Amino acid sequence: MPQHIAIIMDGNGRWAKKRMMPRIYGHKKGVDALREVIRACDELKIGYLTVFAFSSENWRRPADEVTFLMGLFLQVLHSEVERMMRNNIRLKIIGDRSKFSSELVALIASAEAQTSANTGLCLTIAADYGGHWDILTATQQMLKANPALAAGFSETDLQPYLSMSYAPDPDLFIRTGGEQRISNFLLWQLAYTELYFTDLAWPEFGRAQLRESIASFQQRERRFGRISEQLSE
Ligand code: IPE
Ligand code: IPE
Ligand code: MG
Repeated sequence: MPQHIAIIMDGNGRWAKKRMMPRIYGHKKGVDALREVIRACDELKIGYLTVFAFSSENWRRPADEVTFLMGLFLQVLHSEVERMMRNNIRLKIIGDRSKFSSELVALIASAEAQTSANTGLCLTIAADYGGHWDILTATQQMLKANPALAAGFSETDLQPYLSMSYAPDPDLFIRTGGEQRISNFLLWQLAYTELYFTDLAWPEFGRAQLRESIASFQQRERRFGRISEQLSE
């Protein structure tokens, strides 16, 4: 079983458009899909689920869609924390919070604090997240804490400052919506992750599709640079 699954939840807008509905309808349906996938991960005893909700590039979208997405995020945080408490889910939010409203920043802090002692699934939502931002911010914070490292530092020095330092690297990466790219998601952390792409839109993704992606993952031989014969040793 993968310990950590990371998902780019893509295809909401095109899914809605195909149904003659506004893009935001797709985002609403996307929340339902996420709820089902969280439940499935919980049942499968997956340790970590990380989902890309809003990228640092998504600010370039039309203003009304950005406003809707921010509102949806606020609303979901409000309504779902109770469910997370019931299901023993620990919530983490990664990304740059500086452009969020003060209301959203406060709600993020309180949702994280409330769920911090939960011991079940660790759910991470990446919002205003970018892989470049993550690596740059980590480097800056590391150097601030330890200026002597400016002369040279290692991966181990940097690791604690990356935004997912509390989790193992993802074992399985899933992207829905048909595109086969990383779109500035967890660049550092995906170094050896198994990649799985599906043409299904995110609102069409659920328990069965998650199982299918895990089955595909279980067929892979993860060699981490070694050769096959070394793995059985
Ligand atoms: C992913 O779906 C959700 C977000 C980026 C917030 P999209 O909104 O990118 O949907 P498509 O790719 O345009 O269909
Ligand atoms: C990636 O989806 C970000 C999220 C799913 C939040 P996009 O739809 O924004 O990605 P690109 O721009 O098409 O690569
Ligand atoms: Mg998209």
